[in-house]
Amino acid sequence: LHTPRNLLVTGGAGFIGANFVHWIAANHPNVHVTVLDALTYAGNRASLNGVDPNRLTFVRGDICDRTLAERLLHEHGIDTVVHFAAESHNDNSILDASPFLTTNVTGTYTLLEAVRRERDEHGRDIRFHHISTDEVYGDLALDEPRKFTETTAYNPSSPYSASKAASDHLVRAWHRTYGLATTISNCSNNYGAYQHVEKFIPRQITNILAGIRPKLYGQGLAVRDWIHVDDHCDAVWRILTHGRVGETYLVGADGERSNIDVLRMILSRMGLPEDAFDHVNDRPGGDRRYAIDASKIMRELGWRPRHADFARGLDQTIDWYRTHEDWWRPAKAATEEKYRLQGH
Ligand code: NAD
Ligand code: DAU
Repeated sequence: LHTPRNLLVTGGAGFIGANFVHWIAANHPNVHVTVLDALTYAGNRASLNGVDPNRLTFVRGDICDRTLAERLLHEHGIDTVVHFAAESHNDNSILDASPFLTTNVTGTYTLLEAVRRERDEHGRDIRFHHISTDEVYGDLALDEPRKFTETTAYNPSSPYSASKAASDHLVRAWHRTYGLATTISNCSNNYGAYQHVEKFIPRQITNILAGIRPKLYGQGLAVRDWIHVDDHCDAVWRILTHGRVGETYLVGADGERSNIDVLRMILSRMGLPEDAFDHVNDRPGGDRRYAIDASKIMRELGWRPRHADFARGLDQTIDWYRTHEDWWRPAKAATEEKYRLQGH
């Protein structure tokens, strides 16, 4: 059993990272968190408002900055790294893959090397948990019974998922070659508070709130396997404390739904007709379906999703965007303009 006391959370001002920091603050009062985040377009310091300042240190910086990473690990006495920081949006990666290679590949490499140095120079073994995605496995046909498991072959489709696949391989190599104490989780599509308005669910909710028609890629038949972000946070903690070093765990909550079904749910729950949306260009090379078989983490670590009621989670998410316009409004116009130029 591992007992984290001093966490370094990279990407802690992003969607899942910020939810994770709030989740730690609410559930594990003895843990101190240092957030390292570059505050790119996707990061928002305000997402961490409300966390007790005695238990949070925020550092604005780049995970590719080796000197900074080494200094933080050493001077802050970090015992556990949870690595969320990434360029995370597929559509952006299709426009320009360069920051994806830098942050997702070189950034992960830089952190691994900093952890290795802290062990070799100062004899401190730091646990390193890498947050990854089900997209590294490519996609499934809409009608096949198969789901992704920990042994599914890597077959990424987009520049984003290829860069995440590369980062997973680096983590495994640093475990096997240098003996670093690493774990990896590959999770399906998260939803909840603090998600950037570029992503599917927040984009549609905030479009409706802003008087813009929701936008569905293609016919909307692609399937995503939705999980509430709190269930993902809980799974990460479970892996940190109970997971076996060197292992990979898939995280998902049996939440498969087609995009058009999700969009119709959002429309009807927000009081609009189910056909009040536009069809726009599909994503080039877009993945058809993701589906996670989470039996390993359930069997070995006893994890269970607690927010299985998607309609309820969606209502809470809609409410959150209704009451946090000050949080999402500043990013909205530029995001929509970027989409307009892509025919999305
Ligand atoms: P996000 O885009 O909302 O947040 C990313 C954060 O990383 C931002 O705060 C950004 O400022 C920061 N960042 C980016 N480049 C950085 C750099 N070079 N140095 C330091 N900080 C940097 O992403 P998210 O949706 O919260 O995803 C977090 C992680 O979870 C990613 O690794 C992603 O691949 C993975 N993941 C996401 C999902 C999902 O559904 N969103 C599902 C599975 C896995
Ligand atoms: O599966 C995990 C992945 O989920 C993470 O690794 C990624 O970081 C995260 O962004 C997410 O990737 P997706 O590409 O699945 O999510 P996105 O929200 O971009 O799109 C979900 C689906 O909705 C996809 O089929 C495209 C479609 N879509 C998206 C947008 C933005 C629309 O139909 N309309 C839209 O406006």
